Amino acid sequence: MSTSPTSTVPTIELNDGHVVPQLGFGVFQIPPAETAQAVSVALETGYRHIDTAEMYGNERGVGEALRASGLDRADVFITSKLNNGFHEPEAARAAFAGTLEELGSDYVDLFLIHWPLPTLYGGDFVSTWKTLEEFHADGRARSIGVSNFQVAHLERLAETCDVVPAVNQVELHPSFQNRDVDAYDRAHGIATEAWSPIAQGQVLGDAAVNEIADRIGKTPAQVVLRWHIQHGNIVFPKSTTPARIEENFALFDFALEPDDVAKIDALDRGEAGRNGPNPDVFDYVPG
Ligand SMILES: NC(=O)c1ccc[n+]([C@@H]2O[C@H](COP(=O)([O-])OP(=O)(O)OC[C@H]3O[C@@H](n4cnc5c(N)ncnc54)[C@H](OP(=O)(O)O)[C@@H]3O)[C@@H](O)[C@H]2O)c1
Repeated sequence: MSTSPTSTVPTIELNDGHVVPQLGFGVFQIPPAETAQAVSVALETGYRHIDTAEMYGNERGVGEALRASGLDRADVFITSKLNNGFHEPEAARAAFAGTLEELGSDYVDLFLIHWPLPTLYGGDFVSTWKTLEEFHADGRARSIGVSNFQVAHLERLAETCDVVPAVNQVELHPSFQNRDVDAYDRAHGIATEAWSPIAQGQVLGDAAVNEIADRIGKTPAQVVLRWHIQHGNIVFPKSTTPARIEENFALFDFALEPDDVAKIDALDRGEAGRNGPNPDVFDYVPG
């Protein structure tokens, strides 16, 4: 881990040599018409990593905000993801071209298979991954990775494919620490990205989190996000509230004591803490 010269946000080196700011800004559930405004606030605040997806319908707003910011394209790390209806290779190629067009960029920093969908496409996410390998080889996806992959899915890629995913983006927060997947990632050089890092706000009322926050003079969101940072997770909290966008960025002038990290570690409820769909059975394809 190192600190980028232009900001206080540490960077994580991926297994392909590219680096990603450990803290970014997520745009899930931001309506397309509001996305450019929210991303502009994030870029003004100092975020240099934006996490979007074809499924969110707001890649265009991300690209607009980037161009309006006056920042160089190279200064902002952009992730997008393949939508669930496009896993077959020809469809994936067309969808990826669409992502670049929506963003108004000739590359993405990171492109992910959004969901493994093991009950669809005859269980075949391997040919989808091999198609992402093409985007990586031709340079239009600087890094490629997966999202919501379970250990069995990662093992299957390891047996059949050449490129190890650079990241696995999974649900992970204090109530659901996704430990088997995280352990597999770490053992195989795959960076874990933690989606819903504050459990969409649900973890912010927790008594242990609030006790720590009150004692050290930080907010519950800052305590939980700092916990992720100290575990080495990559995070991109979402907010459309400017004050929260700033609050979530102010994580690098304090550290949690080991005892406090352990108190948050103890909040894990295993599968019972999962809020989102289970990737083993999730089969949603947007219409
Ligand atoms: N790969 C996947 O399948 C997947 C799935 C889900 C999410 N993601 C990614 O992960 C990102 C983050 O996850 P998420 O959007 O689900 O949830 P999240 O970041 O854990 O939480 C967002 C929610 O928390 C609120 N919030 C944000 N900062 C706060 C603060 N400081 N204090 C109190 N409330 C706060 C936001 O409200 P306001 O906006 O009203 O401020 C919003 O309702 C997404 O945007 C997306 O990029 C990926």
